[in-house]
Amino acid sequence: MAKLRVLFENGDPERTVEFDPANAPFHHDGQPGSILDILLGHKIFLEHACGGNCACTTCHVVVKQGYNDLSEASEQEEDLLDRAPGLTPTSRLGCQAVVENSNAEIVIVVPRFTINQASESRDS
Ligand code: FES
Repeated sequence: MAKLRVLFENGDPERTVEFDPANAPFHHDGQPGSILDILLGHKIFLEHACGGNCACTTCHVVVKQGYNDLSEASEQEEDLLDRAPGLTPTSRLGCQAVVENSNAEIVIVVPRFTINQASESRDS
């Protein structure tokens, strides 16, 4: 089983989900097995204004642990990330970063500005 621990910069309580990447997709937005897919499938909200199609930056997350257990970022993702507020060297788009290791222990931070943008469309 893989683990995904989610820290929220806005102070929401952290969450941890355990999942088997082989069971992807967990939901219907983003790449199957992506951080967005896993979170939505476990009822944890992450903004995804473009529907998980690598066309916005609202699903930006900062990877604190397990960066190398994620799929490589495409050029399109890198280009979008360049425009993300608060970009870090381990930033990813949640809808594109697929967990590839079935024993991965991933830790991510959901930046505060993402949450603020999401305030009108929470569905969890
Ligand atoms: S949801 Fe738009 S790029 Fe991920």
